[in-house]
Amino acid sequence: MRPGGLILGIESSCDETAASVVRGGREVLSNVVASQMQMHALYGGVVPELASREHLRNITPVVREAMAKAGVAYADLDAIAVTSGPGLAGALLVGISFAKSLAFALDKPLVAVNHLEGHIHAVLMQQIGESEGAERVLALVVSGGHTHLYLAEQRGGIWHYRNVGRTVDDAAGEAYDKVAKLLGLGYPGGPWIDTLALHGNSKAVPFRFAEIKHRGADPDAEPTFDFSFSGIKTAVLRYVETHGMKPAIDARRAEFAHLKPAEAASRLDEQTLDLLASFQNAVVGNLVKQALRAADHFGVRTILISGGVAANRELRSTMTSVAAEKGIAVHFPELALSTDNAAMIAAAAWPRFVAGDFAASGLNAAPQQRLG
Ligand code: KG4
Ligand code: ZN
Repeated sequence: MRPGGLILGIESSCDETAASVVRGGREVLSNVVASQMQMHALYGGVVPELASREHLRNITPVVREAMAKAGVAYADLDAIAVTSGPGLAGALLVGISFAKSLAFALDKPLVAVNHLEGHIHAVLMQQIGESEGAERVLALVVSGGHTHLYLAEQRGGIWHYRNVGRTVDDAAGEAYDKVAKLLGLGYPGGPWIDTLALHGNSKAVPFRFAEIKHRGADPDAEPTFDFSFSGIKTAVLRYVETHGMKPAIDARRAEFAHLKPAEAASRLDEQTLDLLASFQNAVVGNLVKQALRAADHFGVRTILISGGVAANRELRSTMTSVAAEKGIAVHFPELALSTDNAAMIAAAAWPRFVAGDFAASGLNAAPQQRLG
């Protein structure tokens, strides 16, 4: 293995154009992210065509800035890494075309990285020392587009993944975004509800999660640890309708679009704050329960949590305290590496680069790409 190899990572799968230089899969020399969030906030969600156009506008300056901040010359790079999927097709194509062209012009190898593997490496790169022997971990990837549980194992320097749980409908972050929208709060909903839930009573509204049946019909099949978040979104909608909350929501929508979450708490009534706190408590409780069930079943002592929802304060504190009671270690990435970034892509590329696992010249966008 060559210590000190320099990889330029490029990420454009959704609404962040990102580039980062990482040395040896761990040492972040630069981590530049151009977020399109404000533009998409106008529409209450990511608009795919606008995302592609913004990536095209931002990709050159973002890569230039990442190289300049790292103080690295293009000739010194050992490889280029790029997200190949999953994500929005038009968005992925911008990063892939750019990375391919750069690798071609510099005559450097190109490494393709699954975005979900990137999220897992956002934690691995920071938290797990090579000598800690944590070569078998449970990873919860929980974001606006994904809610997955993976059993990840390192064998011969290469990580292998088995998908042991997934959402059967909405992702957890998507539920946050949809509930925030239906309550007239800003976008993206996660940070809003995270902040406002601190001011409400989390036991005020009892939400229940239905048990999800095994995917297969075979009763002897391995249990799965699936999630479902569309039911709770519908339950919130029903609560709003039956409690006559609509007029107040419609009245605040325009004003709240220009507020920060912390400024909104004093403008909201107790009923809404209680509803938000109860929603978050139920979602967090469900994520924690499924992750711990899976850790128990597979005999895993380490849980990694990553993706945008990993920024959530209640998830961080509840997961850490509940797991500690069972002697399970929980690791989260630092906040800058929780949401989409390219350092995690360069880090995930490192073991592949060392193993000579390079992308074929025909590499294409894989919007539905799975991991494990
Ligand atoms: O990983 P990410 O940046 O992009 C995707 O790959 O989806 O995650 C964005 C998602 C959004 O749904 C957002 O509402 C959610 O992560 N999110 C949060 C928090 N910060 C972002 N959800 C709960 N609490 C937060 N503090
Ligand atoms: Zn992501």
